[in-house]
Amino acid sequence: MEDIDTAALKENFALVAGHGPDEVAQYFYSYLFLRHPQTRDMFPPAMTKQRDRLVGALVRIVTNVDQVDQLVPYLQDLGRDHRKFGTLTAHYPAVGEALLTTLRHFSGPGWTDKLAADWASAYILVAGTMSGAAEHIAETEPPSWDAEIIEVDQRTFDIAVLTVRTEEPVPYLAGQSVSVEPTTTRPREWRWYTPANPPGGLDIELHARLIPGGPVSTALVRSSTPGDQLRLGPPFGRMTLDSGSQRPLLMIAGSTGLAPMKAMVGQVARDGGRQTHLYFGARSDREVYDRKALAALQDWHGWLTVTTAVSDDTRWPGPHGMIGDVAAGDGDWSGHDVYVCGSPAMVEATVKRLLAQGVQERQVRFEEFGRA
Ligand SMILES: Cc1cc2nc3c(=O)[nH]c(=O)nc-3n(C[C@H](O)[C@H](O)[C@H](O)COP(=O)(O)OP(=O)(O)OC[C@H]3O[C@@H](n4cnc5c(N)ncnc54)[C@H](O)[C@@H]3O)c2cc1C
Ligand code: HEM
Repeated sequence: MEDIDTAALKENFALVAGHGPDEVAQYFYSYLFLRHPQTRDMFPPAMTKQRDRLVGALVRIVTNVDQVDQLVPYLQDLGRDHRKFGTLTAHYPAVGEALLTTLRHFSGPGWTDKLAADWASAYILVAGTMSGAAEHIAETEPPSWDAEIIEVDQRTFDIAVLTVRTEEPVPYLAGQSVSVEPTTTRPREWRWYTPANPPGGLDIELHARLIPGGPVSTALVRSSTPGDQLRLGPPFGRMTLDSGSQRPLLMIAGSTGLAPMKAMVGQVARDGGRQTHLYFGARSDREVYDRKALAALQDWHGWLTVTTAVSDDTRWPGPHGMIGDVAAGDGDWSGHDVYVCGSPAMVEATVKRLLAQGVQERQVRFEEFGRA
């Protein structure tokens, strides 16, 4: 690995990407699907421009192979996750070949034997870590879990709460997310969603918010009906409860970022209860989509306080403002374990505000719903 010149790989890809990321992705996929048609069925039916999720990520990872020690846990998770696509060890050389052919094509005279050898070595190292982990986990875990939608509760114009039933329990921890393929309505499109109930049973509650123009959220919120089939991928995420801590909890959620907080509240209840302040923020009164459940949770659990704030609707009788500001304005949270979940903008603003107020980074766990 010492011989791999990662700076040269990055420089080479910057040159290649100069031809336009869409052109590069298009060439990569055309080559892959033509030469290795058995890989086509793993990808979404319409591989339109701007829809590429693999090439950019692939290159970013491979060109950082000099940090492979830090990357190993992530690559192991990625390899485990790729099993849901049907990816087998035998498929990795095909993607490596498509990558190198694409790079050579766009590099023109800048392509050298040394670059070719370095790309190949870096790819083999990354692919080996992924496929090794996938083979290892195959002994104990299925590649995905079949599920069926059993209830669709359209709470607002753009938010639906879905109850899905699996045949086997999915081994997630409260706060973690699973990727979802709406097999009936959007086959081979995978997106992340976060169970809103603690693990162990066969039923999983999902909160889906429609993102305008987004294929999967539109399908889940607008077109879901009981009986629709889904597949769920393996769970991931570090926004989980710290079992070694007895500190009180502060949870701050924007919109469907409420889902993991509900799962964690359920888990805290199972574990005997712990003082918890849950802040839920929405833009308008109508987007306060889970108020009955939140009121019931607060009634049941003496250790739980729920505050709902609305940012853009003056008729709301409770607190107004961005939820991070409302929570930060309510007290000193430096003695709490802090959880934040919502859009990337909400999470960034909230965490920044709390840190400025004396909360330490190590106290905060968060999940952003925008990016995988
Ligand atoms: C770990 C994780 C957990 C998630 N859990 C949930 C969940 O429980 N409920 C839920 O509704 N969504 C959740 N999401 C977002 C979800 O995975 C999809 O991205 C979202 O539903 C849109 O899917 P789409 O196919 O319609 O559009 P996409 O093609 O996925 O997205 C279109 C664009 O919208 C952005 N985007 C997606 N979600 C948001 C958001 N909330 N705020 C601002 N921008 C956004 C994306 O980054 C992208 O740029 C989660 C995301 C991650 C990474
Ligand atoms: C070193 C090798 C590889 C790396 C680093 C890699 C990395 C990634 C990453 C980071 C994503 C995005 C995940 C997400 O958005 O959640 C992805 C998606 C994907 N990968 Fe890989 N991958 C590799 C090899 C492969 C192979 C061999 C296959 C199978 C032929 C494959 C099939 C896919 C598919 C089907 C997707 C989803 C694409 C989409 O939804 O548009 N990958 N990969």
